[in-house]
Parts: sequence; structure tokens; C-alpha cells
Amino acid sequence: MAAKRQLIVPAATWAIRNIFQSLVALLIALLFFAAVYVTQNNVQLVEDRLITSKRSRDLLLSSPPRCNLFSGKWVFDNKSYPLYKEKDCTFMSDQLACEKFGRKDLNYQFWRWQPHHCDLPRFNGTKLLEKLRNKRLVFVGDSLNRGQWVSMVCLVDSSIPPKLKSMHYKQNGSLIIFKATEYNATIEFYWAPLLVESNSDDPVNHRLPDRIVRVQAIEKHARYWTDADILVFNSYLWWKRSQMEVLWGSFGSPDGIHKDVIMPRVYEMALRTWSEWLEVNINRNKTQLFFVSMSPTHQRSEEWGGAKNGNCYGETEQIVQEGYWGKDTDLKMMGIVESVLAELITRGLNVQIINITQLSEYRKEGHPSIYRKQWEALTEDQISNPSSYADCIHWCLPGVPDVWNELVYAYILQH
Ligand SMILES: *[C@@H]1O[C@H](CO)[C@@H](O)[C@H](O)[C@H]1NC(C)=O
Ligand SMILES: *[C@@H]1O[C@H](CO)[C@@H](O)[C@H](O)[C@H]1NC(C)=O
Ligand SMILES: *[C@@H]1O[C@H](CO)[C@@H](O)[C@H](O)[C@H]1NC(C)=O
Ligand SMILES: *[C@@H]1O[C@H](CO)[C@@H](O)[C@H](O)[C@H]1NC(C)=O
Ligand SMILES: *[C@@H]1O[C@H](CO)[C@@H](O)[C@H](O)[C@H]1NC(C)=O
Ligand SMILES: *[C@@H]1O[C@H](CO)[C@@H](O)[C@H](O)[C@H]1NC(C)=O
Repeated sequence: MAAKRQLIVPAATWAIRNIFQSLVALLIALLFFAAVYVTQNNVQLVEDRLITSKRSRDLLLSSPPRCNLFSGKWVFDNKSYPLYKEKDCTFMSDQLACEKFGRKDLNYQFWRWQPHHCDLPRFNGTKLLEKLRNKRLVFVGDSLNRGQWVSMVCLVDSSIPPKLKSMHYKQNGSLIIFKATEYNATIEFYWAPLLVESNSDDPVNHRLPDRIVRVQAIEKHARYWTDADILVFNSYLWWKRSQMEVLWGSFGSPDGIHKDVIMPRVYEMALRTWSEWLEVNINRNKTQLFFVSMSPTHQRSEEWGGAKNGNCYGETEQIVQEGYWGKDTDLKMMGIVESVLAELITRGLNVQIINITQLSEYRKEGHPSIYRKQWEALTEDQISNPSSYADCIHWCLPGVPDVWNELVYAYILQH
């Protein structure tokens, strides 16, 4: 506008007009270059956005044909793995520290999970802690879930200087809280092996001959994780028996009714109590929910074509047969989990399953076997027959549970 007004000034001489024309030309040129520059940047931005959204779409399990994170294969990768060193983890558990307890074949530490149709994001402890700032991440379940919690703590451990982290035991050890002070973030574990109330709720003394469960009572536990921001549940192995004694009424009260209920009916009753609790108490806008599927055991080597009477003891290689399922893995129970979670979705609650069952089935060499702390002195009979006391249930760290956490991490990043 200013330029136009100048141009119609009648007194303008040729020289002035020339200068003006040059200036206008210069201005147009500048505008042109600026426009080209902005457009190029926009193209760049649009491209970036496309790439990001493609990546995050790749991670969406809710569109399974695109990429199912749980369908894939193990790839030997000793460049990036293990994600931490066993001896460097401040809070490592003696139950899972296989190298410390004499294991010599360490290949179990070097495997990456590669989904068939996409890549898992690379684990970054700092990034996770930033996501967890002012938040509570709580694992709830049994000793397998506790192993996964130890793995998660080890995964972020090296990203936090010694003075800025701590571990606290609450409620007689039922609740263990790892705190990253600088982030005001906690990664916690709550012991509730059956999720609902039972006579196995003591985190130390729970090896009782008769298991009694109050399938309709969960509040005793749930009040410790009501306001968590991220919840990771599991519950499976403790239900693996043909039936369970159910108590209606409370422990210690004389008028309680006891009744044996067969599996998997009793499991379903407990999961319904759990899901009803979530429905009423979870803030859908705040809390992200996960359920970790059954962790397979390797107690009978016959199942994978090994020796009779053997188990995971002495195993150093994976099972390579794609789609392998052990006989111990209860697909009926898996089906119950699936249907309970599907019902929750219809009520607006999304519990993401972390489907670790198949991928862990391959890892018969990933268990502590005899390489862990023994809580009781071994007998001569046991020493002469190591497979008799091999632990083929839990998992060495670093190892398989780190990958379970990489899967959880993928969903937390996306949230
Ligand atoms: C990784 O494994 C390969 C093959 O077994 C071996 O040659 C190499 O030295 C290993 N690298 C490291 C860093 O351990
Ligand atoms: C991890 O994440 C942090 C924070 O987002 C970033 O600064 C750092 O470069 C990342 N590290 C790696 C190895 O990518
Ligand atoms: C620290 O985190 C807790 C949740 O774990 C939150 O309630 C509290 O407000 C946070 N504190 C600050 C100072 O942000
Ligand atoms: C801790 O254990 C003691 C003894 O068994 C018991 O009296 C107390 O109520 C327990 N405290 C909590 C918070 O569970
Ligand atoms: C959750 O978010 C929705 C929409 O943003 C809002 O209407 C609702 O009140 C929120 N609920 C809670 C419990 O904060
Ligand atoms: C878990 O994955 C296995 C194998 O990919 C599949 O057969 C099973 O149905 C899945 N279970 C759930 C609950 O998603």
C-alpha cells in the first residue's frame, strides 16, 4: 500500500522512480524467496508428521492386521543387548541374578524381540522417566510380575544418579516403592498373587498347603493402587490347580461359608471382581491399564522333544519351532482373560493386553534353573539331581522380562 501511494506522487522524478522500482523489485524478490523457504519448511514439517504418524500407527495394536507387536521372532543382537548389565543394577534380585549365581552360558541376555511387521521403539530410560514425571507406575500381581518390576527398575536405574533414587518397603513388604526423586516418579510393586484377597497375601510367608480365596473381595489390595497413573496386572500361575477353596465371609470370622470351586470357573469369578472394581474406580481419563498374559513354564523337556524326566535345567538354546505352545499353557484361562477385557472395552475401559505367552514359550533357556539364591539348604539328593530343584518358572535378568517391558514401553510412549 505504501509503495502504491508513493508511485502516484506526481512530483516524482525519473531517478526517484527508478530507485522505487528497484526497491519494489527487491521487495518482490524477497517475498518470493521467503515464500519458497516457508513452503519448503512446510513440506518438511508435513513429511515429519507423516513419518511420525506412520510410526505411531505401526505401534497400534488396535489395528492388528497392520502390526501385532506380539507376533514376531527372536533375533540375536549382542550389540544392543543386554539393555543393562546384571551387576550394574542397584536393585537386582538374587532370585533372578543368574550370572552372579554361576551361570556360564550368557547368550540368554542377547536377544531382541522383532515383531514381523514393525519395529519396537528403542528403550530409553530417560524418555520413560520423563513420561512418568509426577506419576505412579504400579505393577500388581505375583512373583513373575515382581520380576518384571525388577526388570523395569533395572532398565531405568542407569539413567538416575545414586543420590536421586531410593527403595521403600510399605505394608509389611506388600508394597515396594522405587522412587526417582528428580522426576517425582515411582515404579512400584504390590503383592497380590491372586489379585483378590486370599490366604497367600503375605509377601513372604505364603507357601500354605491349602489355598483359600475370597473371590469377591479386592478392596483390601486395591486401595493401594487406586490413584496410580499406570497399572500393570498379572495373575495366572497361582490359579493353576484343578480347584480352589472359596470363602464367602471374611478370614477369621466363624460364619464364613467355604466351598470348592473348579477351574477355570473360579479364575473367572476373580477376574470379574477385578474388572468390576476397575469399572467403578478407575479414572478413564487418567489411568493407563495393562494386563500381562500368562508366563509359560518349562518343567517337562519331553514337551519340546527333549529328554524324559528333564526340564529347563541344562537348556542353552531356544525352541525354534514357530507357534510352539507348551502343554502347561492353559488356553482356556487365556480365553477368559480375553473375554473379560473385551467386556471392559464395551464399558469404555481399555485394558491393553501384553501378550507375552507365545514369545516367552520359545525361551526355554531363559529361566534361572539352578543359578539363583536357594532360600533353603539343598539336600544331598537334590545336589546329585540338579533338575529336581531347577527353577523353570521365573526368568533370569537381564533377559525375557526386559522385552515384556519394552512392549509396555511402546504403549506408554504412544499414550
Ligand atoms: C557378538 O557375537 C558374535 C558372534 O557370536 C561374536 O563374534 C562377537 O564377538 C560378539 N560381539 C560382542 C560385542 O560380544
Ligand atoms: C533418550 O531420551 C532423551 C530425552 O528424550 C534424549 O535426550 C536422549 O538423546 C535419548 N537417548 C538416546 C540414546 O536416544
Ligand atoms: C508428585 O507425584 C504425585 C503423584 O505420584 C503427585 O500427587 C504430586 O502432586 C507430585 N508432586 C509435585 C510437587 O508435583
Ligand atoms: C504387619 O504385620 C504385623 C504382624 O504380622 C501385623 O500385626 C500388622 O497389621 C501388619 N501391618 C500391615 C500394615 O499390614
Ligand atoms: C474425562 O474427560 C471427559 C472429556 O474430556 C470429561 O467430560 C469428563 O468429565 C472427564 N472425566 C473425569 C472423571 O475427569
Ligand atoms: C496371544 O498371542 C497368541 C499368539 O500370537 C494368540 O494365539 C493369542 O490368541 C493371543 N492372546 C490374546 C489374549 O491376545
